[in-house]
Amino acid sequence: MHDYNNPDLNHLNQGTQPLDRLEVFGNWDAVPLGWYALCPTKEIQKNKIKTYKIMGQQIVVWRDSEGDTHALDAFCPHMGLNLAQGKVEGKQVRCKFHGWRFNDKGSCTHIPCAESPKKTSKVQSYATEEQYGMIWIYPEELAPRPVFIPHDLRGKKLDWWHMKPLKRKCHPHAPMINGIDAQHVKAVHDINIVPEGSIRMRDEDTLEIYLGSEIPNGTTLMGKLARWFLGPYYAYINSFVDGNIALLNTVKDVKLFGKWKAPECNIIYSIQYRERGESNILPICVTEKRNGLLSTLRTKSVLLLTKIGFEVLKNDEGDEFFEDLRFRHDNLLAEFDRPIETLIEFLNSKPLSKWSTNQRKAIIKTEKMSKSSLSQTMDC
Ligand code: FES
Repeated sequence: MHDYNNPDLNHLNQGTQPLDRLEVFGNWDAVPLGWYALCPTKEIQKNKIKTYKIMGQQIVVWRDSEGDTHALDAFCPHMGLNLAQGKVEGKQVRCKFHGWRFNDKGSCTHIPCAESPKKTSKVQSYATEEQYGMIWIYPEELAPRPVFIPHDLRGKKLDWWHMKPLKRKCHPHAPMINGIDAQHVKAVHDINIVPEGSIRMRDEDTLEIYLGSEIPNGTTLMGKLARWFLGPYYAYINSFVDGNIALLNTVKDVKLFGKWKAPECNIIYSIQYRERGESNILPICVTEKRNGLLSTLRTKSVLLLTKIGFEVLKNDEGDEFFEDLRFRHDNLLAEFDRPIETLIEFLNSKPLSKWSTNQRKAIIKTEKMSKSSLSQTMDC
């Protein structure tokens, strides 16, 4: 069964408008490897443990007495209590139900009523990192690289503002196309976006799509203000990192009032969902943190400018399309939809994590098991 976007729409028109299932893009079963923003750092104090859902996975995360964070699958391997009900002991966590204790690698280190812990009693552990005021989780014990930082900001001190999460009743991959959908920008906003010759791999994990447009001599106040403030030309870059982080770098190569180079504004989006059927995209405005009174003012001004840009984009007419969309990809136009096609190919090439599920396989396995238990019962 096809399961893009809003699952409520999945079953409709299957006879007349069947859809193919893609390997990763829009596929709820496929969870690409990459860093996912789990919660604000301040939510987990020292010696506290909490539980979260991320990409259909129940996780516990705790902060030990030295301030380091650790994450495990939530359910105790003994009888399945959520470990968040337990307590933190140094770097370890103890389950409340029967007192089994687990270290930060997920190994059982103590069972109160047994002399030695069962070697098989292991919980999956995950790499964590704190960046942009968030705790991030990687769906493997070790992460191959740190959380993504925009190339221009690497090696610099960072400042950030968290924006309100964008919640949509669709798979989070669908809204990712909004900024690179040239036909939509023309049809809805009457702006000519020019995507030609502007797609490249920045490094092995980052797809970069550079888009530019002339700011039309609009009749609306906003259009006039935009042209007066930003000049006649506007460009921005959408970057896609792994399968789950997007970076919008706005006002690229723009001169304010046609004279002064505008500061570049970066919005990082953690592309994710908590549970199937509802995406939960976390936008974070990021810039270089500068010291000194005037420099701090400049830093905050850039963040404010980014936030204003974000609010304008958020109220972008057309966002509501994603509430009522069963995305399909087989009629894209090579001339205009090349960025979208490239993004879909890019995502479909991403390696999957162990959070991916194959429910069909699970159902078949269950059916086989029940058949074999049935035959055993009949043999008896
Ligand atoms: S359920 Fe956790 S120790 Fe028994």
